[in-house]
Amino acid sequence: MGGDRDYERKTCRSRALYRRALKVFAGGVSHNTRYYEPYPLFVKRAKGKFIWDEDGNRYTDYWMGHTALILGHSPKIVVDRLEGQVRHGTLYGMGSSLSVQLAEEVQRSVPCAEMVRFCNSGAEATMYLIRLARAYMGRRTVVKMAGGWHGYNTQLNTAVHTPFAGSESAGILAEEQAYVVSIPFNDVGAAERVLRENGEDTALVFLEPVLGAGGCIPAEKEYLKTVRELTAKHDALLAFDEIITGFRLALGGAQEYYGVKPDLASLGKIVGGGLPIGVICGIEEIVSRADPRIRDRAKFVSIGGGTFSENPPTMSAGLATLRYLRRNRGKVYTRLKRLGDELRKGVDGAFEEEGIEAHTTGASSLFMTHFAKESPRNAEESQRSNIALFVLPGHLGAISTEHDAEDISGFLKGTALFAAGVKHDHIGP
Ligand SMILES: Cc1ncc(COP(=O)(O)O)c(C=O)c1O
Repeated sequence: MGGDRDYERKTCRSRALYRRALKVFAGGVSHNTRYYEPYPLFVKRAKGKFIWDEDGNRYTDYWMGHTALILGHSPKIVVDRLEGQVRHGTLYGMGSSLSVQLAEEVQRSVPCAEMVRFCNSGAEATMYLIRLARAYMGRRTVVKMAGGWHGYNTQLNTAVHTPFAGSESAGILAEEQAYVVSIPFNDVGAAERVLRENGEDTALVFLEPVLGAGGCIPAEKEYLKTVRELTAKHDALLAFDEIITGFRLALGGAQEYYGVKPDLASLGKIVGGGLPIGVICGIEEIVSRADPRIRDRAKFVSIGGGTFSENPPTMSAGLATLRYLRRNRGKVYTRLKRLGDELRKGVDGAFEEEGIEAHTTGASSLFMTHFAKESPRNAEESQRSNIALFVLPGHLGAISTEHDAEDISGFLKGTALFAAGVKHDHIGP
């Protein structure tokens, strides 16, 4: 197909930068997911739906900053706010009206968010969430989904990739993950079994309502409802990792989209309006255990937030973004879903034309294509699909409000060309 040759011809500066990057970063990257063959692009600038690489090539971006940029790159409402803010301070190291207002926006929109705490990344938020859940419940076990990705936090860095057993990393002690159990997603029987066998020690069932890195696979509605009932029956907590789905599937995230309310949730990405953030939220009785006025060490849950938590640029960017989304919620989410539906259907159609079995999963503006006979229902099925055909391995795509119907038809034309090339290379003319 010559794809790699074209890529290398057009991206000489990226290749040179990658060589330099290899001398300063392990593997040339600061986030493992940013590496792909033969070498990743290096970005010079980004605006709206476009990114430009160091060689000046322009791309329509469907990665959207790890799905964080629902309004596209550098939207005017965010840039204006930020420009004003940085003149008034980039880090107060104290609370501000901005941080209260952003927390109020989260509280107002996200069904379970009776109380909120900010930190700086999703990984931190999921780490703190577990601490809160274990302390509140006085139990040890956390049930996660096979293929569930919750950031680089130590305890949950297990069962992310096939064979979905054991740690993902050297340097993590078995003891640190001793009370984390993983079960297949969308499998009611497995959830019933784990709670029946271990219900008395289960503090928390923690899941992404749309399995993200595990294959962009939406939960079946009945599955989420049943897990909610089962956790209630076994007196365990249910938490959603909404770091991708929060403010993306709907203003109230997956909780609104599915009509299922967890006890706790982690948020991030979109809430920061393009700047770093992590959010823990949930029912007051649990989150209020982080109140530093609690003197009893057996009750108090020490969760920080960190030096940069509530930093005013993030708070301003997040506030501009969430306010925009709330004011335009009807228009934004209907449109994103329509574009997502068109894209998913069109991509599968383009592959079908060439006799290639493909299933594009996702919900609303999220999508990922799998090459398999059946549409995957969990990470194991997803990771069994023909990974050799992935354009960007294991990456889900995200549509922003900057994309339009023309972009989707361009995407489908590109897919048709790719599909024809795949047929030629793998099946023959
Ligand atoms: C579902 C989910 N949880 C947690 C994280 C970790 O967030 P962060 O990269 O901000 O640490 C991610 C990151 O992609 C994610 O997709």
